[in-house]
Amino acid sequence: MTKHIAVMGSGNGSNFEAIAEFFKDKDVNITCLSDNLNAYILERAKKRGIPNQYLPFEETAAYFGANDFDLIVLAGYMRILPDDVLELGKFINIHPSLLPAFKGKDAIQRAFFAGVKVSGVTVHWVNNELDGGKIIAQYPILISNVMHFDEFEKEIHSLEHQLYPIVIDKLLKDEVFDFSDLLNCGGCNGCH
Ligand code: GAR
Repeated sequence: MTKHIAVMGSGNGSNFEAIAEFFKDKDVNITCLSDNLNAYILERAKKRGIPNQYLPFEETAAYFGANDFDLIVLAGYMRILPDDVLELGKFINIHPSLLPAFKGKDAIQRAFFAGVKVSGVTVHWVNNELDGGKIIAQYPILISNVMHFDEFEKEIHSLEHQLYPIVIDKLLKDEVFDFSDLLNCGGCNGCH
């Protein structure tokens, strides 16, 4: 049966793009939503012919009251959703650190310049706290002493783009998964 997901973002939409690419030939319909009228994520959806709409934050509860999705995927959505919205669907989020470390904005920079030696990406259920909610999947990146910030940032984004569609796919299929399923490898850190 066809699944229907909403992807919500406030800005660039590179994760949306990765999700749209992954599901383009699959039985999954995507609707793109943004709380920012000028967000590039909406442009990306238009270019792909994917239904998209500006959804002012104040109208979010009414929208999800009237529209049903199998999963609502936050991808760079920069607002905290209240309980009256969260109870209207299953919401997940991606964050560019190993939560619960480095919640909030600029997590990639803050992790790197704190000097951590392992960071990574987290996908989690959404609750009404900033980057809060039970963790669904995490994948690490080792930070060597010779790694530059730009390289690290690029690796984090590339990891996000690989990881998020796979996790969404597994959740939609109600499949249990582990490290080895996430990036189609043996779970090591050498292939991204
Ligand atoms: C991504 O790095 C995502 O993990 C982060 O915003 C970026 C959105 O990029 N989200 C958070 O920091 C959530 N607290 P994108 O718009 O290109 O997908």
